[in-house]
Amino acid sequence: MIFVTGGAGFIGANFVLDWLAQCDEPVLTYDKLTYAGNLNNLVSLRSDPRHFFVQGDINDQDQFAQLLEQHQPRAVLHFAAESHVDRSILGPATFVTTNINGTFHLLEATKTYWHKLPSTEKSAFRFLHVSTDEVYGTLSAEDPPFSETTPYAPNSPYSASKAASDHLVRSYHHTYGLPTLTTNCSNNYGAYHFPEKLIPLIITNARAGKELPVYGDGQQVRDWLYVNDHCAAIRRVLADGRSGETYNIGGWNEQTNLSVVHTLCNLLDELQPKKNGSYRDQIRHITDRPGHDRRYAIDARKIERELGWKPAETFETGLKKTVEWYLANDVWVNQVQSGDYLKWVDLQYSNKTEAI
Ligand code: NAD
Ligand code: DAU
Repeated sequence: MIFVTGGAGFIGANFVLDWLAQCDEPVLTYDKLTYAGNLNNLVSLRSDPRHFFVQGDINDQDQFAQLLEQHQPRAVLHFAAESHVDRSILGPATFVTTNINGTFHLLEATKTYWHKLPSTEKSAFRFLHVSTDEVYGTLSAEDPPFSETTPYAPNSPYSASKAASDHLVRSYHHTYGLPTLTTNCSNNYGAYHFPEKLIPLIITNARAGKELPVYGDGQQVRDWLYVNDHCAAIRRVLADGRSGETYNIGGWNEQTNLSVVHTLCNLLDELQPKKNGSYRDQIRHITDRPGHDRRYAIDARKIERELGWKPAETFETGLKKTVEWYLANDVWVNQVQSGDYLKWVDLQYSNKTEAI
């Protein structure tokens, strides 16, 4: 069995679904079900005997330790986190609590469990920490992409908390010998993406006839990767990654935010045309994100060379699948856009002024 923390969130749920579509090794999903966690993402596994779900907080070291003893997994894959940069700017405390303290408690519980394993299981065990390219900070247009040796320079409370968690993971390998793997991935997109993030926000706002908010000039660059390609990379790292190593994961797909928004509008104009005009008419440039990183880009040559991973989707094919998924899943969209989501949208967007 493997354990997946944060498996009810966007990437975690895609990972669990992909895993069980490809093999029969059971999965225990451990998730607090914060606003970002959604059991509807895993509804297709409701009566699947290979899947177990436990609601819990990664800060609850005792509960996690008991589950490890009870189920004896061969790996812990750690996706659970507070993941939205804008929320970290408005309320950084939970980012420290979950991303730093929570990772510490998981590592402690896992270390104790791992120490007691028989030698074969002990050397085969892996703690795989899912992290982000944002720990490396920001690039200028001329800089080479982030490699695994780029110095850490996080700029937001989110990325600082992820950087701290990466350092804790590194230290548990170096000091205690815990067999860890860390992945630093670029921006994901795909099904089950919570519509607080750029791509699902643009799709859902466009369809609802709302403004499409672009921060500042929209010339910030992100390196987008289809979520199932990220999941495939994590499976490769778990299978054959070298203990103690980090692997950067990215799509070699740098896009400005404005170009992403234009492409989404073009796709929607094609797949669900408006009666009058284009979805582009709804674009509005608003006040920029404080401390906004200008450019991210990933050098993915290490994972390609060592583990033979490459993305299967292009941005065109992945984005089309994503838009089609949102068009076909109104029930999911309506469910996640209720309650706390509306409060967040009000807090984040209601006082923003026109930027350009
Ligand atoms: P998400 O916000 O969609 O999901 C996070 C999940 O973690 C949710 O199910 C939530 O309920 C759970 N969670 C939060 N706090 C918890 C706690 N204290 N205990 C247990 N569960 C808790 O995030 P995501 O976009 O799926 O990201 C998953 C991981 O991948 C994160 O570690 C993130 O930093 C990393 N990452 C994300 C991206 C991206 O583009 N989304 C890119 C690179 C890396
Ligand atoms: O790079 C990996 C990271 O990608 C992950 O670690 C994070 O968990 C994930 O949220 C994502 O961070 P970003 O800040 O890059 O993603 P977000 O979708 O919030 O924003 C993408 C870009 O779009 C960013 O430059 C900000 C901009 N943006 C975002 C929103 C929500 C807008 O212009 N308007 C918006 O309304």
